[in-house]
Amino acid sequence: MTQDELKAAVADAAIKEIEPWLEKDTVLGIGTGSTANLFIDRLGKFAGRFKGAVASSDASAKRLKDVGIDVLELNSSGTLPFYVDGADEVNAHLQMIKGGGAALTREKIVAACAERFICIADGSKYVAQLGHFPLPIEVIPMARSYVARELVKLGAEPIYREGVVTDNGNQIIDCYDFMINDPKAMEATLNSIVGVVTNGLFAARGADVLLLGREDGVERTA
Ligand code: A5P
Repeated sequence: MTQDELKAAVADAAIKEIEPWLEKDTVLGIGTGSTANLFIDRLGKFAGRFKGAVASSDASAKRLKDVGIDVLELNSSGTLPFYVDGADEVNAHLQMIKGGGAALTREKIVAACAERFICIADGSKYVAQLGHFPLPIEVIPMARSYVARELVKLGAEPIYREGVVTDNGNQIIDCYDFMINDPKAMEATLNSIVGVVTNGLFAARGADVLLLGREDGVERTA
């Protein structure tokens, strides 16, 4: 199977997972990226059967609208039953690196408001240790160089993702050569650097369900 076929398989599995909860008052949280896009495309078939969705990026909001799903404000949506999103890396504890698409801050906010985070990923995203994928950090633009110096002290090789402006008007630094031994501790350490808006470690609040696309089928871990 190709990577795209594996992504499609987990998007199908996520639809099966949430379908019983699609009622007139249901508001879903929706992630960003190519796997989340496949989920959105399938969700379109159910537009009208549930209230709508909160999007983690402008791109996902547009895609949701394109398939006929109402996009709602998070501040008036309360607690969401589900947040469905992809990952750049995920480990056995369902901790993740996210933010390859620069949407990490809104993703973390919407995920925090969800009762259950369903991570959908093809098998290539599964790792024994987080950190092979460069860890994204969203920073306030004027703090970028200061934050980069602090990241060097932590052992990372920070590279400014030039030309990228987040939906929040900020910038992204990617941390290369930065293997993570203790994801929860590192998430907290990175958050404590002045000028950091969010880091791409989703460890304190990881996923609750992982749907992983393998050659021999979708593996479910909860
Ligand atoms: C977006 O900022 C990311 O967190 C994505 O969720 C992540 O990069 C997964 O993207 P793909 O589904 O495209 O691999």
